Amino acid sequence: MAYLRAVYLILLLKFSAAFGSIISNSTTSNEAEACIDGATIMLSFGFYLNSCPETEPIVFSWVEKAVSDDPRMAASLLRLHFHDCFVNGCDASVLLDDTPNFVGEKTAAPNANSLRGFEVIDAIKADLEYVCPQTVSCADILAIAARDSVVLSGGPGWEVQMGRKDSLSASNTAANNNIPGPNSDLSTLLSKFQNVGLSLQDLVALSGAHTMGKARCSTFIGRINSSSISNSPDLNLEYLQSLQQLCSQSDANTTLADLDHMTPTTFDNQYYVNLLSGEGLLGSDQALVKDEARGTVESYADDMDAFFEDFKRAMLKMGSLNGGGGEIRRNCRAVNS
Ligand code: HEM
Repeated sequence: MAYLRAVYLILLLKFSAAFGSIISNSTTSNEAEACIDGATIMLSFGFYLNSCPETEPIVFSWVEKAVSDDPRMAASLLRLHFHDCFVNGCDASVLLDDTPNFVGEKTAAPNANSLRGFEVIDAIKADLEYVCPQTVSCADILAIAARDSVVLSGGPGWEVQMGRKDSLSASNTAANNNIPGPNSDLSTLLSKFQNVGLSLQDLVALSGAHTMGKARCSTFIGRINSSSISNSPDLNLEYLQSLQQLCSQSDANTTLADLDHMTPTTFDNQYYVNLLSGEGLLGSDQALVKDEARGTVESYADDMDAFFEDFKRAMLKMGSLNGGGGEIRRNCRAVNS
């Protein structure tokens, strides 16, 4: 672990120049005010510098270990943060297990048998509780782990704003309603993003997270069924046939396809190149090449730096969606008793 933490510090120095530009572009001071639904919290850079300076090195070393054991884990951890933030803000509600008082978000349709990485967050939390008891929120751990997952996959680094609190409850209904589905068209996607204050550009940039990770055949099978092919005239024929072959082999609930079949574990702009050649895996991916989103897809396909810059900015924006949570949980799966 000591070695991994040293590697983290080197990476931190490497990205410090990039961090500087993000800070100056996104806020005028060291603090950012996140205000959604009337609730306000202050997030800041370097939030744990005095109270728990080990926070980021500890998260990084666990994420690095998890990704080296299972390369897909980078994608899974990035997605966890997204599914947290879209349901009443970034408050770690996604991590809560069901209780007699509420049904949590883990069994909601977008999450069940799909979200991964809970054990990695548990391990990070246990380590942090040992070093700095009840100091670092689970919601902040999710935000840092998402950034580290991108960095470890070859993507950009940015400084994460912190100071989130963990929720006292979770909402299965909001998870079903707020997280967009894989067959959504552009206007549905956009309205779900705009509902939480994110723009068309944020939608296109954040969808670039599908440059890594996997989806189950059952998620997109409707799109590749021969009976519905006429609904997907923008799908590349060879790509379509390869998906049909893959998904006919065994159980569609367990067979997985790469979201970016060209560079599946690298965080790069290949996702957008794929979209332009009709090789987006989900209907919601391919929907981005239409209408007012197409120009942004083309610019990211052309210019990886432009994608990285906008992705960083959009992650900071998404990460500041306020859950208005109430505590620092000791165990990310349950509220404190
Ligand atoms: C724009 C709307 C979005 C839709 C409709 C969508 C939908 C999906 C679906 C259906 C899957 C596969 C689930 C499965 O088959 O089990 C998936 C995977 C994934 N999503 Fe999204 N997503 C969206 C946006 C995002 C955003 C904003 C992020 C992160 C910033 C993200 C990150 C990921 C990642 C990394 C994976 C792969 C996870 C893994 O391999 O474990 N997605 N998404």
